[in-house]
Amino acid sequence: MNSPLRIGIAGLGTVGAGVVKLLAEHNRLLALRGGRRLKLVAVSARRKAKKRDIDLTGVRWEADARALASASDVDVVVELIGGSGGIARGLVERALRSGKHVVTANKALLALRGAELAELAERQGRILAFEAAVAGGIPIIKALREGLVGNRVRRLYGILNGTCNYILTTMRESGRDFGVVLQEAQAAGYAEADPSFDVDGIDAAHKLAVLTGAAFGARVNFAGVHVEGIRHVTSMDIRFAEELGYRIKLLGLARETRFGIEQRVHPCMVSLEAPIAHIEGVFNAVVVEGDFVGTTMFQGRGAGQGPTASAVVADLVDVARGRHMPAFVVPAANLSAKKAAPMSRHVGPYYIRLMVQDRPGVIAAISGVLARERISVESMLQRGRSQSEVPVVLTTHETEEAAMQRALTRIARLRAVAEPPCLIRIERF
Ligand SMILES: NC(=O)c1ccc[n+]([C@@H]2O[C@H](COP(=O)([O-])OP(=O)(O)OC[C@H]3O[C@@H](n4cnc5c(N)ncnc54)[C@H](OP(=O)(O)O)[C@@H]3O)[C@@H](O)[C@H]2O)c1
Repeated sequence: MNSPLRIGIAGLGTVGAGVVKLLAEHNRLLALRGGRRLKLVAVSARRKAKKRDIDLTGVRWEADARALASASDVDVVVELIGGSGGIARGLVERALRSGKHVVTANKALLALRGAELAELAERQGRILAFEAAVAGGIPIIKALREGLVGNRVRRLYGILNGTCNYILTTMRESGRDFGVVLQEAQAAGYAEADPSFDVDGIDAAHKLAVLTGAAFGARVNFAGVHVEGIRHVTSMDIRFAEELGYRIKLLGLARETRFGIEQRVHPCMVSLEAPIAHIEGVFNAVVVEGDFVGTTMFQGRGAGQGPTASAVVADLVDVARGRHMPAFVVPAANLSAKKAAPMSRHVGPYYIRLMVQDRPGVIAAISGVLARERISVESMLQRGRSQSEVPVVLTTHETEEAAMQRALTRIARLRAVAEPPCLIRIERF
């Protein structure tokens, strides 16, 4: 058998510990599949004394993770520390410059530095692999690089954040509001103490930016992603959605338009007939529409120790086999620098919920504003006539975002409108 692939792991938290366990448990299987042994030779984390449920007998401890980048007995550095800058970035760059292959799960780093790291890896003739960075255990990067590589991607979209999907699912099932469900999710370990990366859509936007790069052969452009989170989604909107035949999901969506590449992360109303409407709880899903293959959907666990370790090890087996592939499917020099389509140019149907004082003339005033922007209403619901403020729900036909935003600004100024309007875009698949 060939000489072993010598691995150095930086970061022994949820993912790092999972990789150590998987490498130990499937040692023989991986040797067969990789064509040589996958041998863990060195690790690094912040605290050496921390109790970890892993066996590190015979594995060297490096106090400074960056030492892995220059260690002569390491072939591949696995970066599982996280963060878009600091130690993680320094380690990845240093490892590639020193001629090591790099495997990472770090979506924040890739979203901000993906193109330049891909260039560096190629210059050095080394592999940069990051299956675990997007949708955890779902092998979507491999699908784009391999199984779907014959297609032009028309559109891709997905549920890319399990925490948000869990919160939206629980809100719908229990009828409780966002704040309460978030607290429960934190207590159950499904949401971080500081949940903003997840619930404000940033984590999903990192993943979408990386996916877009791989799917459209474009330089990763995180700044070009329009990002909204789920804090403004109420249980009332979830009930109205069901009544209208929709379910609310936080989606990341990307497609090429005549204005550039459109990338958006925001809550969407999706028809109950769409398979993605039924991806519930912590699960993730990614749908890729290719010109020859049609629609494909991948679903599975988007986070957690086992699924993420599974993805990291898949990359390690590629490295063991010497499968050199450009990080973003096409060579870094050929990645297009297409500009981001402005959100104001987005066209689609909308759901709008207003809280209004129940008095004559209000609906006429709202309709007047919409008519001035040439926004065509598809349906209108008004409920709870006995209270002083009542919800009015409108859905529109295809409308340009800029016109919708102008209309909402005017509607919000009407005296009978009690609180800022709630807008949720409707997606048709
Ligand atoms: N958790 C998931 O399900 C998941 C899924 C997909 C992708 N990811 C990505 O995977 C990466 C790791 O996530 P995680 O959840 O495993 O994080 P984590 O549990 O917080 O673990 C981070 C690890 O990094 C170590 N570390 C922190 N600062 C360090 C430093 N300066 N030098 C060396 N080691 C340092 C920590 O050391 P100590 O243990 O000593 O504190 C810890 O072992 C992140 O990029 C994350 O976005 C995670």
